[in-house]
Amino acid sequence: MPERDFLSSDDVTEKEQTRLLELAAQLKASPREFCDRLAGRQVALIFEKPSTRTRVSFEVAVTQLGGDAVVLRGDELQLGRGETIADTGAVLAGYVDAIAVRTFAQERLTELADAATVPVINMLSDLEHPCQALADLQTITEERGGLAGQVLAYFGDGNNVAHSLMLSGVKAGIHVRVATPRGYEPQPGIVRRCEEIASSTGGSARVTNSVEEAARGAGILYTDVWASMGQEDEAAARLQTFAGYQIDEKLVDLAEEDVIVMHCLPAHRGQEIAAGVMDGVHSVVFVQAANRLHTQKALLAWLLAG
Ligand code: CP
Ligand code: NVA
Repeated sequence: MPERDFLSSDDVTEKEQTRLLELAAQLKASPREFCDRLAGRQVALIFEKPSTRTRVSFEVAVTQLGGDAVVLRGDELQLGRGETIADTGAVLAGYVDAIAVRTFAQERLTELADAATVPVINMLSDLEHPCQALADLQTITEERGGLAGQVLAYFGDGNNVAHSLMLSGVKAGIHVRVATPRGYEPQPGIVRRCEEIASSTGGSARVTNSVEEAARGAGILYTDVWASMGQEDEAAARLQTFAGYQIDEKLVDLAEEDVIVMHCLPAHRGQEIAAGVMDGVHSVVFVQAANRLHTQKALLAWLLAG
């Protein structure tokens, strides 16, 4: 059987996603039980963009499972001098048991995965952030008591985080609403795929330009930065475009009384989220960040140790 990769939230079935979340819950409750699951295994972590959470949580995840992580910056590799991503993948697969990559175009990941004979994990691309979405689902399960039937409203840019959240959310039976300014909607192909998934899971995906429409009665409010890594030149213009899309007290008031507020972080208080909301009673952003560790341990154990 060819090795499994995790390049997209759509690379796992609904059942596999549920199983991964169950495993993550077990790993969180009894971390010691799994401390030799990756004994003698090596994992390369390649970063072509900056990272705090993903880098540290992946490195710690591998270590806590008894394996070894090799952290590599893209500009320190021969990649920075023109070696292809495919050759890099083929070479690394001779040394390590899995390769995790944070990069720009999704095609770089597929090229590397096609050439590598070991599992490849997407640690964020311009298109998706599937590891983040797993931690988001674990957090929603813990904080809201389940996934199916929940109403999640995402505000801001229809970006990588939104794409993975939509795919994995709908797969879990969540009703996902996405409110963006005109021209910043999620990619149509992702929305179509979500509608396809929804037809068998009971979830739904709805895209709107109205923040009120998205927030009304929601149990989960979610946002991300307005300018992603690689869009620094657009940051000033985006401040204007996205001005009405901040999660503020007004939006919280439109949602359910016990709404939770999520952000994948890093956050910019006063831009995509009001400081009072980010640091307020509804915010679960640091639980969410902590859950990156447990869900990634589950993912590594599943991909590498069956
Ligand atoms: N949420 C997230 O992926 O954070 P980092 O960019 O710090 O890894
Ligand atoms: N959309 C953001 C997520 C950061 C974790 C970015 O790509 O920069």
